[in-house]
Amino acid sequence: SGYKEPYRPQFHFSPAKNWINDPVGLLHHNGIYHLYYQYNPGGIEWGNMSWGHATSDDLTHWDEQPIALLARGFPENVTEMFFTGSAVADVNNTSGFGVDGKIPLVAVYTSSPCLNKYQVTQTLPSGKEVKANQQSQSVAYSLDEGMTWTTYDKGNPVIHNPPAPYQEQYENFRDPFLFWHERTNKWILVTALSELHKLALWTSDNLKDWKVLSEFGPFNGVGGVWECPNLFPLDLDNDKSKTKWVMAVGLNPGGPPGTVGSGTQYFIGSFDGEKFTPDGENVYPGNKTSNWMDWGPDYYATTSFNGLPSTDHTVIGWMNNWQYGTKIPVYPWHGAMAAPRHLSLKTINQKPTLIQQPNEAWKSIQRQGEHSSSWNTFDQGNKDLGSVGKTLDVELEFSASGASEFGIIVQATSDWNQQTIIGYNFEEKNIFVDRTKSGDVFFDETFASVYHAPLTPNSDGTVRLRILVDWSSIEVFGGEGEATLTAQIFPSQNATFARLFSHGGDTKNVQLGVRKVSSTWN
Ligand code: FRU
Repeated sequence: SGYKEPYRPQFHFSPAKNWINDPVGLLHHNGIYHLYYQYNPGGIEWGNMSWGHATSDDLTHWDEQPIALLARGFPENVTEMFFTGSAVADVNNTSGFGVDGKIPLVAVYTSSPCLNKYQVTQTLPSGKEVKANQQSQSVAYSLDEGMTWTTYDKGNPVIHNPPAPYQEQYENFRDPFLFWHERTNKWILVTALSELHKLALWTSDNLKDWKVLSEFGPFNGVGGVWECPNLFPLDLDNDKSKTKWVMAVGLNPGGPPGTVGSGTQYFIGSFDGEKFTPDGENVYPGNKTSNWMDWGPDYYATTSFNGLPSTDHTVIGWMNNWQYGTKIPVYPWHGAMAAPRHLSLKTINQKPTLIQQPNEAWKSIQRQGEHSSSWNTFDQGNKDLGSVGKTLDVELEFSASGASEFGIIVQATSDWNQQTIIGYNFEEKNIFVDRTKSGDVFFDETFASVYHAPLTPNSDGTVRLRILVDWSSIEVFGGEGEATLTAQIFPSQNATFARLFSHGGDTKNVQLGVRKVSSTWN
């Protein structure tokens, strides 16, 4: 395909063709980053769910690999789909899947019957019976560095039914996230009881026999269903004696205020090997609000890499939304991944805060020739930056003076009829992204909107925005990364112009850096 079709992401992963949704089974092993993902081998809409596969050695350049887990019976008679899950390197061969000293990679995924087509009770090769529409958790392993996978048919599903007393939830029991827990020397797994807005935590010594440990939820955001849990440790302020745990969970629908469709919330707390307990200040009585991992409409199903030290904690999210995911005006693929993010925890205003930054590795594709300028006083009005292009890494720093808003317009046509506005509102203290004029906004009635992310200026009054611009996306990282906002856009090919603006007065101490970004598909 050449990756040059209209709207084709130039430095974000998208498959050559067909539908993708959640990233799954993220694993760093032997120097290779494995990105598996929900994939339809048969079309650009959701269906025939399989695990697609791509590899990278820098989180930036991806090679698409053969499908890792192909929907069973595809294409004629799909009896089992491979839903979202996770993967580990079983270095001690606790599972016994390893032979001849080879380290087995082990994946846990949700087995789901083909909806609509296979609505009957099935007896599986293991002798276990699954009901029509039952979701259960199964295992597969790879002995060739993640390239080909064998399902554990003798034992699957390894987690057959939801835990008591929630057995009736078998139709919405999914998305196992698995990791090795150092302190207790155990495997830990988290699944969603989606309709109940609960998570169940499980433990195992061998990845085959699982015992339920505890439950979590409902807390804070309880829109729609809960999906795609992700639990991981981070050191607060880089202090190894202050490790905290973060639980992220997807809601669909029920994303951040002002969005329609799916979104991701998180909780900071502690995990003692059995139970995850959110810090009191992370629970908002009456489910009034949430910690939103991203305040935009297009960041979902985030999950983290196994096999990386916690100082290098990296996550990837699906840069799309269930509200309009199948309607986005792109072809022959449907969907992309957000830029990999490096996560850390930092005390800001006395509060442990999740900090997200674009992964550093991708700097390798930034072209020379930075466009940088600064203004002690940026007068009310606009300053055109010319035709700067459609793939950019923008850094902006500024402080309030008389202005109500300061920001940048990108991906504009020369007549400014198409434009995407990214700015900061000094009164509301929030970042905003306005995509109401971002080209093709007509395929879904909720798409043409303005989104907001709260951000307090630094103690010295400065506001910092880092903005990644690709052919069909905007990702904003505000402050030190305590607020992020991701939104897809579909402007025309010639929307290459940019300008800065200060509305309602002057803005002080403006510093601008614009770097062009190369395609990773050359
Ligand atoms: C989330 C999700 C998961 C499910 C998968 C199916 O986007 O609905 O809960 O496992 O997608 O593709």
